[in-house]
Amino acid sequence: MDTLASYDELPYDSLPLPETQPDVLAALAKLHGFDAPDPCTARILELGCAQGGNLIPLAWRWPQSDCVGVELSRVQAGAGTAFIRQLGLPNVRILHADIAALPDSLGEFDYIIAHGVFSWVPPAVQQALLARCRRHLSARGLAYVSFNVSAGWQPLRRLRATLLARTDARLTAPERHHQALQVLDELATEWTDPVLLKEMAYLKTAAPSYLFHEYLADSHAPMSFAEFAGMADAHGLRYLGEAGPRQARVEIEDAWGLIPESMAGRWHDAESSLDEALATRFRRALLARDDAPCGQPPLPDALPGLSVYADLASDDEIDLAAAQAQDFVNPAGNRFAITLPGVKAAAMILSAHYPAALPYHALYAAACGLVQAHGGAGVDEAPFRVALFDLVMLHGAMPTVWPGQFADTPGMQPRAHALARAQARAPGWVVSGARQVALALDDPGRNLLAALDGQRNESDLMALMQQQCDAAGRDWPHAQVAERIRRQLWLYLRQGLIEQA
Ligand SMILES: C[S@@+](CC[C@H](N)C(=O)[O-])C[C@H]1O[C@@H](n2cnc3c(N)ncnc32)[C@H](O)[C@@H]1O
Repeated sequence: MDTLASYDELPYDSLPLPETQPDVLAALAKLHGFDAPDPCTARILELGCAQGGNLIPLAWRWPQSDCVGVELSRVQAGAGTAFIRQLGLPNVRILHADIAALPDSLGEFDYIIAHGVFSWVPPAVQQALLARCRRHLSARGLAYVSFNVSAGWQPLRRLRATLLARTDARLTAPERHHQALQVLDELATEWTDPVLLKEMAYLKTAAPSYLFHEYLADSHAPMSFAEFAGMADAHGLRYLGEAGPRQARVEIEDAWGLIPESMAGRWHDAESSLDEALATRFRRALLARDDAPCGQPPLPDALPGLSVYADLASDDEIDLAAAQAQDFVNPAGNRFAITLPGVKAAAMILSAHYPAALPYHALYAAACGLVQAHGGAGVDEAPFRVALFDLVMLHGAMPTVWPGQFADTPGMQPRAHALARAQARAPGWVVSGARQVALALDDPGRNLLAALDGQRNESDLMALMQQQCDAAGRDWPHAQVAERIRRQLWLYLRQGLIEQA
């Protein structure tokens, strides 16, 4: 096979994926008692990378890294390669190749990412993917392999079977997607199962490529955690932990006292039970070589050696004097109830510093100071660490080994970095924030970003924005245009897109 027609016809929305960031993976591994290589100088391999929407920003962030993407869809691999050439990035390339036929000469990688690939390829490619992870993973390297979990997909099988049966496989992918939307409308009047109705409502608004590749593609094989861990094991890979947000985490008493084999058995059983209890649909497994130093279930003890970042807000007036649960929400809309005043203070401090991360000890000291300034009691370190660790496990706060340095003012003549400007200019590319998040920018927002070349001052930007408003037939008063520019610049700054003056 020399291409994948369905992905050529309906390319995947190639987005930055925060949970695949090697600095975050390294930090998570550390919480599992495992030291991974420095991401800044790492070799990074992404399997099934689409057009490189995730890999290219990583290569941009770490110029000393060496990044390789593998993608079988000719259209997507070609689009990524053209964009890399346009950027002039020397440390990243996308190979138009089949995961199942990679040459050993690719060498070893410190991080291997395979997001949204494993469950969507035939069994032989699944085996090849794990074999390649083992073959190419460096001694202390980490592989991230996400997969769909059968526990959560069981009730949705009926929907996939019905969409497959009621749409025409001879159509092109976009045409079949269109037909599937009509079938969803029909099913909405026929079915009553609330789980299915909720999923159908979501699919109506989801990206066409998601609906197609999840529900209409030839291969889609959710599996249990135990089956996945067993397959990984057969390829000489060990499950190290979960890289994605979790609703709950496994705790094993006396884990450190157990021999590795007994602990792995108990741990894996607990993970499987959790999937059944929570109807888990998706997992992001962190894997290491089976000859690497053994990992453990995650513990808070390693948190003091790490940095943390967070982007949280709250509608409540935060009470730093009372241990009363208050809700914080992240940009994805996920809510986190935080009770401990010290951790509420930490959430506020981190969010004010975003996208920079703070080293644990600096964060703890700042949280103590903020609580004290608001009349709260002293913050004990041990409970603070455990509560912050719980927030990290839920992905309300992200651990990292890369604090990052970012501008704190746009300056008189703001300059966005070249990747952001190129992404803003290129149709089909999403602008990625410094912490690997996808930014939803409208056309004026993209145009303004693309224009931030360090040569334009406030009045130049005003003239430019005014032109755009005129062209769009918007009759905005001067003050409204100025306010719009101010807000956009704040957003670019907050997402780490502006270079230090
Ligand atoms: C569901 S998409 C996920 C894309 C990307 N990783 C992401 O998460 O946005 C799966 C990707 O794997 C690619 N793919 C599937 N089988 C492949 C193979 N045998 N070799 C290389 N790439 C493959 C597809 O073309 C597609 O781009």
